Amino acid sequence: SAASDVYKRQAQGLSLKTTAQRAGLRYGTAIEPQTVAADPAFAALVLDQCDLITAENALKWNALRPDRDHFDFAAADQVAAFARRARAPMHGHTLVWHEAIPDWAIHELKAGDPRALLVDHITTVVRRYAGRVVSWDVINEPVERNDRRPDGLRKSPWFEALGPDYLEIALRAAHAADPNARLAIADYGLEYDDIGWMVEKRGTMLELLRGLKARGVPLHALALQGHLLGDHAPSFGAGLAAFLREVAALGLAIYVTELDVNDQNVPGDIAQRDRVVADIYGRFLRTVVAEPATQIVVTWGLSDRYTSKTDFFPRPDHAPVRPLPFDAGLRPKPAALAMAGAFSHRGP
Ligand code: G3I
Repeated sequence: SAASDVYKRQAQGLSLKTTAQRAGLRYGTAIEPQTVAADPAFAALVLDQCDLITAENALKWNALRPDRDHFDFAAADQVAAFARRARAPMHGHTLVWHEAIPDWAIHELKAGDPRALLVDHITTVVRRYAGRVVSWDVINEPVERNDRRPDGLRKSPWFEALGPDYLEIALRAAHAADPNARLAIADYGLEYDDIGWMVEKRGTMLELLRGLKARGVPLHALALQGHLLGDHAPSFGAGLAAFLREVAALGLAIYVTELDVNDQNVPGDIAQRDRVVADIYGRFLRTVVAEPATQIVVTWGLSDRYTSKTDFFPRPDHAPVRPLPFDAGLRPKPAALAMAGAFSHRGP
């Protein structure tokens, strides 16, 4: 059709990396070391499109810590080697999270010296990748309003072991290990203007950030994960813009670190689904990049060939999921064009 011819012409030569750079942004993806090692065509696409690399799983505790006395850096080092090939810095994910903690560490948090465990881990990992990992999700998903604490903090294993101080302990240890690294708190559920719990979570997050900044704790960015909902109308308007403004007013940068669109329940044929997904990417990113404090955009994968959505959010009709900017054949989708369009319209 005429429309698809126009699309194909526009997608030729598409470079998310270059479009982002021209807008003063960095664009990147999360990767698994096995996929880029086993799939040269996919690796070439990442090298072509990205100048920031995140480890989807390789820097988590369960990947790095087979037991208390050992670190296993094999997978993380493979990601770092790939980032070097891409001439790209890394964004590190993640030092403190309530998931992906090995059983021995859960036990150690209850019975051992939790502060030493945390500080030793952060010091070792952050020092090793200093100069390569330029920014870290030091804390991932600290807010859980359903845990019903007045401060909104999640009752994670870290919280249970160390109390609310765990945030400050972690951030100070990371800063001491690499004073040049930019340190972020990351969370989901901050994106939508018309979902009540998300709007409330923004307020909780702002209070948390404000408290840490007021106490002089090293903290440089808020990371929005950006797991967007294919079956919810995009509501990324004045509310999101005002929230980002308030975060920026605290002197914090804004990152998007896990962007994708869950199309589990999006109806229609592939063309219709791709249009819905692209519209969501475009509307979200236009609002986010209009905020001058926004610095990086990372998608949680690059091609539908490799996405954890396949396992976690399969479609009821068993059709392959299509949450990312490139399709399983490594061709750019309308979402990729929508991203490039949002980047290139950055400005006042
Ligand atoms: O390594 C094993 C493999 O040997 C085995 O064959 C396979 C069978 O299922 O499992 C593999 O481990 C899985 C790993 O992903 C690698 O695929 C784990 O079971 C699985 O739990 C793990 O899931 C990851 C999840 O975080 C939990 O750590 C996902 O890949 C990853 O995409 C997801 O990412 C999270 C972010 O860290 C935080 N925000 C939410 C996001 C999920 O969208």
